[in-house]
Amino acid sequence: MNTSGNKLISSIRDLDLFGKKLFLRLDLNVPLSDPDAEGHRAVTEDTRIQEALPTIKYAIAKGAKVILASHLGRPDGSKKAEFSLEPVGAHLAKLLDCEITLADDCIGEGIELLAQSLKNGQVLLLENLRFHAGEEKNDPEFYKKLAHFTDIYVTDAFGTAHRKHASTYGLPTTIAEKAMGFLIEKELKFFDQLLEKPESPFFAILGGAKVSDKIKVIDRLLNNLDGVVIGGAMAWAFWEALGKTLPEGAKKPETKDIEIAKILFQKTKKLDLPLLLPDDTNKGFDIGPQSIEKFISFLTKAKTIFWNGPLGQFEKPEFSISTFSVAKAIAEYPAIKVVGGGDTVSAIKQSGVASKFQHLSTGGGAVLEYLEGHGLPGIEILKTYPNKKALV
Ligand code: 3PG
Repeated sequence: MNTSGNKLISSIRDLDLFGKKLFLRLDLNVPLSDPDAEGHRAVTEDTRIQEALPTIKYAIAKGAKVILASHLGRPDGSKKAEFSLEPVGAHLAKLLDCEITLADDCIGEGIELLAQSLKNGQVLLLENLRFHAGEEKNDPEFYKKLAHFTDIYVTDAFGTAHRKHASTYGLPTTIAEKAMGFLIEKELKFFDQLLEKPESPFFAILGGAKVSDKIKVIDRLLNNLDGVVIGGAMAWAFWEALGKTLPEGAKKPETKDIEIAKILFQKTKKLDLPLLLPDDTNKGFDIGPQSIEKFISFLTKAKTIFWNGPLGQFEKPEFSISTFSVAKAIAEYPAIKVVGGGDTVSAIKQSGVASKFQHLSTGGGAVLEYLEGHGLPGIEILKTYPNKKALV
């Protein structure tokens, strides 16, 4: 994918929103608490909601009739109370300090009437799109019903842009006026820089469970990178590839991952690219103190850092030392630091230095797919039918 194609995408700033029914696709898929005694759940982590605020506020200020839409979890096409967007609506209303109507569905005559009755600047939140099987199937019957009450389509759902679903892909094929919001604009700015011209030295810190999940990203970035740092359980695939004995407690890597590690050794050797592995470990669930020192010192020279995947099982305090120490150290480095993946972002936040990172992405799978370099359906579709009338 050539990221310069992204210049074809309109921004919400380019559209006249006044008095129009604006379908604003967001990714409000956030974690919720267990229900209290009265059955109410609450949002426990609101980054994605916070990040959607600039676009929502802009749409309100410009006098749009704002119709917010999102999925939450994976209810598999039927209405299930635990996946209701009601707690998200309540949280959002507090943050925006305004009234939000929560619809009990996302399609149908009742919803069309609600959308019709919105005054300029008012906000309606549709119920979970995935309560209908048509959403994940990108079913035309479903997205045509969404189109019935949509004048303008804007998406800020970066975290869902890798899904070719009705609200992320089908619906915008039917709407002439479409654009991205401020969050997608920001996400693309940082990730396009990594794909095109990152300031050198550019290092990637990769952790998490499996190297096979990340290999396409590493391959795509390899020619831009000046070094790769490997932590997390995926490091054990490299240890096996080197014939080193795994630490006690470490999960044995799959053969596929060991093979990928071997190939990566060859590729980085050919490019004369440093590939740093942990030398010691904390019971197989975290990397050890020598490795932390080695990584921190190697990363000092960085001008750009991309981090995806924690270096240890940071959810347990005993095994959070490497992830938090590296986060705190590089926070002070004068480099552009971009983080992708829900776990990694959550670890950076817990380490207390999030504000020193230039970009904490709202995407998980979407980040990896975007960096693989083949474009995301929910973003590519914004480049089509630029000036035509709607198709339905
Ligand atoms: C995510 O949390 O990664 C996005 O909201 C997409 O959710 P999904 O993996 O259920 O499609």
